[in-house]
Amino acid sequence: MSLLWRLASRAGPAALLAMVLHLYLQRRQAAKEKAARALTMNLPGTLGSYWLGETLAFAAAMREFERERFARYGNAFYTHVAGKNVVFVADRASADFVYKAPETLIQAGTFDTFQALMKDSVLLMTGRDHRQSRLQITKVLSDAQLDANLRVLQDVFGDKLRAWRGPVEMHSALKDVLFTGACRVLFGLDAELFGTVVRTLKDLSAVYGKGFFALPVDLGDYSEFGRALQAREQLVLFIRELAVRRRSQPDMYKQGAPDLLQLLLDLRNEDGGVDDVDRVASNAQTLLFGATDTTASLVAHALLRLHENPAVLDRVRAEFQSTLGTGPLPAATLQALKLPFVDAVLRECLRLRPPFASGTWRTAVADVTLPSGYVVPRGWMISVAMDFPQNHDAEAFPEPDAFYPNRFLPTGSSAAHADFDGALNPFGRGAHGCPGKGFALAEAKLLLALIVLRPNKAFPRLVAVPQKWCDKPAHEAAEGMEMIF
Ligand code: HEM
Repeated sequence: MSLLWRLASRAGPAALLAMVLHLYLQRRQAAKEKAARALTMNLPGTLGSYWLGETLAFAAAMREFERERFARYGNAFYTHVAGKNVVFVADRASADFVYKAPETLIQAGTFDTFQALMKDSVLLMTGRDHRQSRLQITKVLSDAQLDANLRVLQDVFGDKLRAWRGPVEMHSALKDVLFTGACRVLFGLDAELFGTVVRTLKDLSAVYGKGFFALPVDLGDYSEFGRALQAREQLVLFIRELAVRRRSQPDMYKQGAPDLLQLLLDLRNEDGGVDDVDRVASNAQTLLFGATDTTASLVAHALLRLHENPAVLDRVRAEFQSTLGTGPLPAATLQALKLPFVDAVLRECLRLRPPFASGTWRTAVADVTLPSGYVVPRGWMISVAMDFPQNHDAEAFPEPDAFYPNRFLPTGSSAAHADFDGALNPFGRGAHGCPGKGFALAEAKLLLALIVLRPNKAFPRLVAVPQKWCDKPAHEAAEGMEMIF
């Protein structure tokens, strides 16, 4: 007591109180840590510091965070980020288990802030709701629809690329091209209305996107997160209005091939009826948002690798020319985009840097025992890694850090080409696996073809700049590096 008294008189009562509180919280955290270890059956990891856990390190650089911990702990570890206890897994058996688990064990579910930003999105749905939305989305993203829309995408991409002036920041420029392409295939629309719709949606989407990496404080207009929540609502409302207008004037929009919004409005669901406009608007918004950032990352990465590997670029160019010719670009078809070497290049890029920054997120709704014997306690989240260490396994991928597309050719050294989606995980799998994979790969090939063939020599040069993504890319362009295709 006398020691405390002396300390209090020297440091002041406030400092002493802070110290006592700190000691108390530390002890509580140690007890929580012990409980976490017992509950998970001694899974390695740490909850980090009280309250924040390891949130700051995770938010600062997700890929680095995971890479460093998988190297330290092996294929699974636990931590606490953004208010949730999370188990990260990176082995094939756990991934298969999580993706196949029934919804009585594991459901879609992510951090509260992401959950708020993605309210009503198919990504977070479960049960019948998910089945219904998923069915409609899969139909509008089918190969037949993709083939019907390739020409539209080719025209939009060509126009946008020709308008690039001087050095462009590669990733954001590609995002802009892909966003405009997605708007065109989703909403069709005549030229005048199209410009206004794209501008409105682009502005709202930019505010919305920032919310995912903002402080999770909803102060309406006064905080980034609050503005993002409002933007999401306005986005869905805006699309909803387009949908309502179509339902009230059906004949106006029925000329020519239907755009994806029209398909979403017309398709019969499993009850034999059509979806209500709220569901249609929410699904259209998810498609718009899902279609851009990830595909832009893939193409940006591919261009960088092609620039660094002239022999690979030559071979890519030759393969494009073999089906698309050397003159003005004909209308691309899915058949003409069946290109084993270009596919191998894209796969190698997806292996070395999967566009999804961190894993896919799920929540355990019961205590779940993983194949490894570790347990994910009820209420905890599970993240299945997209990257590390499986992508860099030297047995599956000899010289794993090298950019070597040939490994994914049918005759290549790696067996992974036969089971790409199982051996690697860039598009997720199971009930929520990416239904836009075909679209993404076709868009990536169209963009690469337009850029590397430069059919009318009218495209300006490309300048790569280090990409200002939220997390450190595994492979960055050197400052000011120029890429001229
Ligand atoms: C390289 C590009 C892309 C990558 C790497 C990618 C990756 C992914 C991944 C990993 C998931 C699974 C999320 C989970 O399991 O929680 C997913 C879901 C989804 N993706 Fe993609 N995606 C890409 C492009 C696209 C495109 C172009 C579209 C639409 C045209 C799209 C639409 C969707 C939708 C709607 C879902 C949610 C599916 C569901 O919850 O049932 N994606 N994507």
